[in-house]
Amino acid sequence: MKNIDSKSHVRGESVYLDDIPLVHGTLFACAFDSPVAHGKLKSVDTTEAEKSEGVIRVITAKDLIGENQIGGIIPDEPLLADDEVHFQGMPIAIVLAESEVLARKAAKKITADIEQLEPVTDPRIAAANNDLIVPPKKFKLGDTDAAFIRCEHVFEGRADINGQEHLYIETQGAYATPTENGGLRVYSSTQGPTAVQRAVCRVTGLAMHEVEVDVQRLGGGFGGKEDQANAWAAICAVGAQLTKRPVKYALHRMEDMRMTGKRHPYSADYKIGIGEDLKIFAYEATFYQNAGASADLSPPVLERTLFHCTNSYFIPNVTATAYSCRTNLPPNTAFRGFGGPQGMFVIESAIAHAAEKLGVPAWDIQQANLIDSGDEFPYGQIAESDAITTWTQGDGMFDFARLQEKADEFNVSSKYFKKGVAMMPVCFGISFTKTPMNQARSLVHVYTDGSIAVSTGAVEMGQGVNTKIAQVAASMFGLPIEAVRLHTTNTLRIANTSPTAASAAADLNGKATQMACDAIRERLFEVAKPLVEAENTADLSLDDGFVYRNGERTSLDWKTLVMDAHLQRVNLSEHAHYATPGINFDWETARGHPFAYHGYGTAIVGVTVDCLRGRYEIDYVKCCHDFGSSMNTSVDHGQIEGGIVQGIGWMTIEEVFYDADGKLRSNALSTYKVPDIYSVPKEIAILPLETDRENLAVFNSKAVGEPPLMYGIGAYFAIRNAIKAFKKICPPDVGAAADHAVLSFDAPFTAEKVLMNLYETADG
Ligand code: MTE
Ligand code: MOS
Repeated sequence: MKNIDSKSHVRGESVYLDDIPLVHGTLFACAFDSPVAHGKLKSVDTTEAEKSEGVIRVITAKDLIGENQIGGIIPDEPLLADDEVHFQGMPIAIVLAESEVLARKAAKKITADIEQLEPVTDPRIAAANNDLIVPPKKFKLGDTDAAFIRCEHVFEGRADINGQEHLYIETQGAYATPTENGGLRVYSSTQGPTAVQRAVCRVTGLAMHEVEVDVQRLGGGFGGKEDQANAWAAICAVGAQLTKRPVKYALHRMEDMRMTGKRHPYSADYKIGIGEDLKIFAYEATFYQNAGASADLSPPVLERTLFHCTNSYFIPNVTATAYSCRTNLPPNTAFRGFGGPQGMFVIESAIAHAAEKLGVPAWDIQQANLIDSGDEFPYGQIAESDAITTWTQGDGMFDFARLQEKADEFNVSSKYFKKGVAMMPVCFGISFTKTPMNQARSLVHVYTDGSIAVSTGAVEMGQGVNTKIAQVAASMFGLPIEAVRLHTTNTLRIANTSPTAASAAADLNGKATQMACDAIRERLFEVAKPLVEAENTADLSLDDGFVYRNGERTSLDWKTLVMDAHLQRVNLSEHAHYATPGINFDWETARGHPFAYHGYGTAIVGVTVDCLRGRYEIDYVKCCHDFGSSMNTSVDHGQIEGGIVQGIGWMTIEEVFYDADGKLRSNALSTYKVPDIYSVPKEIAILPLETDRENLAVFNSKAVGEPPLMYGIGAYFAIRNAIKAFKKICPPDVGAAADHAVLSFDAPFTAEKVLMNLYETADG
């Protein structure tokens, strides 16, 4: 079944923030942001801006009625710079004007006197200065110190991973309108309506019941609007509060790129111990996360790096330590995979390192260590399913060895084009690792004409969650999907929402919807029982718009039943609450059962490198993916294809570049390249693995939002393998042969970097 939004999307009729009709008197906001990355803010001069055409007011930190604070997890993020600036792009003052153009013009007239301080952009330097966002986090399984002594082979190295710009098509934005008695209604392009509500309340001093947040849909979020939508909503709210007029702020692309945080870059050290049988016996990793200037979501992102630091492998002895390092960059934030992909890149680097030194294919090591059911993850949870099945089934379908042979045959006959192949298994835990966040609500109304309205805490951002929730309601009532309408995500209808994140929105909100529908259905069956002369309500079911008794269609149709129930004064609405059962985690012991379940998959990635120019093409990504039992294959395939392309972009062509002054040089689409139709894989093949029924997934359909992104990591190692077919390479290690080129593990593998690597050797 198609995404329910597909028609309005292709007609251009879907409503995003910028499509909301404006109320008369609306003002437009524009931020004046810090031109330096670190400094003491001595004064701000807004006089010229205030005199500028169409300007109604200029706001600085001292004007806020509430607190100048929007830090969600740690209160370390002022909305407007007060006495210091911490990154280039940090908002200092807000202009409110009669039009967008006039607001932007006036903002340029603001000046600030800033005494510059030394900026720090490198997380290792921040760690050396002990400038950490939170105390270090650690996972420990077994005893690595003792284990390394017993390993035949031990390799140590370093891996660096760059950030990633979210590049949601719809930029950040919000629109706040005053409501009576000093309240506010805020439309926001956010994944977290409640997070926006809290931030708005904090800066305005209002209570949560005075602030309504409404979200129709997002033109993409990818984690970038889980927390970072808050600032713009807070700015609009403050503006509306101070002027008593509606205020809108939709960022320009370059403002968005400059002022918002991205995927966290990481630098990491690893040590891997392997036996003759290629079993990984011990693994140690130390992660330095580049958090940016304030906490934002860095602590939980750091935690998920640890949760996924051994990817799909069972390793009996693991020590992993992670530092969240404060730097003078915009606060980095959630991005599809939430720190997991960075952890996986590091272990894949360690495995590639070992393979190159031992002279074996990396996939022999990968395959020898795949997690099996009953194995223990480094955080104490026992695997209930395994990483082996997607590998073997994928192999059965795609014949991995044959694909490698084909590449080898090609490479023998081709001098300047070389093919490389790499395997990428993925294991991803589903649930928010902070247990209390795993709850959701759904409000279902059945109207007297038989139509159904559903509101949940889930935010539609292109991933198709509304389609899945509509499918749940339609199937519970045995009706076509058109009978169900999903309404905006609104804090008045659904309170205390968790953000739409962690790939868990369909599970959580779908389950709540199922519960709400079930309660209404039970009441309807009580009404139907005498009408169709059934003995038990358990004998009744709904399908095709009719009541069925023991599987036989009766003459009682849906609309009649609903009207009868209403006339009998039976409640046709339900507000249900779902909390994932059986999950827990204790950071004191770093042990527990944080995930409802794991999603698995294995991909094989093939590339061709042009060894004269350093350019490359992704020939294919073929994967066997664990869907549980997909409730919507077209939506789920879309998630896999999109995730793969986004993951490949991160690993290959997308290069976030801050200079030593903390200035973003890749600040526009001319300097920041994202995959386009020409750079996506020529083939994406998906073999669905229908696994045992996973009853913690909605309708047994496993979460699919984030895991496929990590297949993209395979592209990095496939490119490395293609280079290996061109010349002798080795990882940075002691005893590198002079005729080998030393290739570090440093993503992304841009064409420029590939070219350098093709023509460098250890002896220069
Ligand atoms: N797909 C689209 N089209 N747009 C998005 O913004 N976000 C991803 C993923 N897929 C995203 C997307 C991220 S980061 C997450 S966590 C999940 O969708 C969230 O939605 P879900 O919980 O419904 O899977
Ligand atoms: Mo997704 S990074 O959990 O919003």
